[in-house]
Amino acid sequence: MNTEIGIKACEEKMAALLAERVILTGKQQEKQELAERNLALLNALMGKAYNIALVGFMGAGKSTVSHYLKEVLALPEKETDAMIVESEGMAITEIFEKHGEPYFRELESKTVISLQDSAQAIISCGGGLVVKEENVVNLKKSSRIVLLTATPETTLERVKDSTERPILNGHMNVEYIAELMEKRREKYQNAADITIATDHKEVDEICAELIQKLAIV
Ligand code: S3P
Repeated sequence: MNTEIGIKACEEKMAALLAERVILTGKQQEKQELAERNLALLNALMGKAYNIALVGFMGAGKSTVSHYLKEVLALPEKETDAMIVESEGMAITEIFEKHGEPYFRELESKTVISLQDSAQAIISCGGGLVVKEENVVNLKKSSRIVLLTATPETTLERVKDSTERPILNGHMNVEYIAELMEKRREKYQNAADITIATDHKEVDEICAELIQKLAIV
C-alpha cells in the first residue's frame, strides 16, 4: 500500500474493522463470522496470508494477545513453548534442569523449522527464541513478526508470581530483568516488522493496534 489514496482506503477499512472490536461479547456464530471477515480484510490489506508471529521478552503479553487474536481472527494458535512441552513430555523448567538451556534452544530452532509450512496461524514464540538469528530468518519466511514490549517494572509485575520461567528463577527483580532485556533489545528490534508497547493497555486495545499496524506495513 504505497499511494496516498491506497493508504486512505486502507485506513477507512481498518477504522470499520476496529469499530467492531466488541466482537468478543457477540454470540458464538456471530463471533465466528465476524472473525472470518476480520481475517479476510486483514489478508486483503496485508496482500498475503502470513502467519502472525508474536515475539518479545517474558511477560510482554504474547500468550494473552495470542489467545485474543485467535478469537478475533479465527486462526489456529501455535505456542512454541507448549509444542516443546508436548513433544518432550516435560515442563520447560524440567527440560532446563535435566538437559540444560542449549538443549532447549535447539528444540526451539527445530520447532520454528516445523512451523515454516504453516499457512496462516498465530505463532506465539518463547521470549528467547528470536535471540538466535537463524530462528528469525526461518520465521520471516512465512510470518510477519510482531514485537510486544513492556518496561522492566511492568514485566516484573506480570511475571513475579510464576516459577515456570527458569531464566528468571532466583533473579526475580527489576535490575536483572532490565539488564537481560537490554542485552536482547537489538535482537528483538531487528526481528520486528512492527512493535507495540503493551504497558497500561488492555488486550483489545493492543490487538486493535496490532491489526491496524500489520495492515499498513
Ligand atoms: C524464555 C522465555 C519463556 C520460555 C523459556 C525461556 C526466555 O517463554 O521459552 O522459559 O529465554 O526468555 P515466555 O516468554 O513465554 O515466558
